[in-house]
Amino acid sequence: MKRQTQFDHSVRVDDVMFKSPILLASGTAGHADELDPYVPLREIGAIVVKSMSSFEWAGNKAPRLRPTNAGMLNAVGLQGMGVAHWIEHDLPRLKKVGATIVASIWGFSIDDYQSAATLLSEVSADLAAVEINLSCPNIGSSSNSANSRHGIFAHDENLSAEIVRACAVSKTPLWAKLSPNTDRVVDVASAVEEAGCKAVTLINTALGLAIDVESGLPGLGNGGGGLSGNGIHPIAVRTIFDVRTRLPRLPIIGVGGISRGEDAVEMMMAGASCVQVGTATFADPRAALRIDREMRQWASRHGVNNWSEVVNAAHKGGLATKQR
Ligand SMILES: Cc1cc2nc3c(=O)[nH]c(=O)nc-3n(C[C@H](O)[C@H](O)[C@H](O)COP(=O)(O)O)c2cc1C
Repeated sequence: MKRQTQFDHSVRVDDVMFKSPILLASGTAGHADELDPYVPLREIGAIVVKSMSSFEWAGNKAPRLRPTNAGMLNAVGLQGMGVAHWIEHDLPRLKKVGATIVASIWGFSIDDYQSAATLLSEVSADLAAVEINLSCPNIGSSSNSANSRHGIFAHDENLSAEIVRACAVSKTPLWAKLSPNTDRVVDVASAVEEAGCKAVTLINTALGLAIDVESGLPGLGNGGGGLSGNGIHPIAVRTIFDVRTRLPRLPIIGVGGISRGEDAVEMMMAGASCVQVGTATFADPRAALRIDREMRQWASRHGVNNWSEVVNAAHKGGLATKQR
């Protein structure tokens, strides 16, 4: 058994270094420093803030969240005050607590995405990356339809690539957040890589629906929603594994149902350079710190000095024997 000598917890996504492989997932950690009292933001890899548009948006009707036996359904619908408001009110608070910041953007059209990216270009020095959310299942022209698929740009590789090219105004490394609700995800990942993305974030929520058996009606104000949490973890691992198999050089940020250090390690073995924690924070606001600690303990037990020894292990015949 190999013993750990000098442990380095930092990870690299393309040219950007993060002090820890644990990032907070968009929409689950607030717009600013709300989580800092529970998870000191300067101690984790980064916070990916709630997806923002170039305009103010009210989001969906309540109820917006619903627990299920397999995780959580949400249909928040990307409520927010817009990028300009965030830059004026929330960004200073994040900088004050020493957070590494990834901004996330969304829109209804290519122009919307470009406008949001243009606004963010004014603060590019404060951002580690811009994550382009191409995969929200909760917006669209028929927001009350339980099976609406409108608005999931990441189901179309040409449209996804066009949006990425339009966002090149941002001057910050671009990541594209993709959808598990299509069998085209590998093709879409390839298209956004070609269009200039420095990484892909895999995965957003899986389309889901709950019916309230008292009323006989859908349990969320929007009708359908996106499933997150433990139930989608194997879907995320599979998606990461498949994208890594086809695209050996594209950095991947893994997200989906991580609630333990081992879940994060598993995603890195599938091909992720780092991971994001989302729904686990709703059950325990300190979850990201606990998962970070569990990863360090796993590394110590397995004689791992650097996460690059673990990333892609499932593609390389498993962990090196001396580390098992
Ligand atoms: C309440 C809620 C709001 C979310 N809002 C966003 C969002 O604004 N932008 C985005 O890209 N993903 C959003 N997501 C998706 C998460 O970032 C993440 O991809 C997904 O929940 C899977 O990770 P998890 O199982 O760890 O939660 C949201 C998820 C939840 C539960």
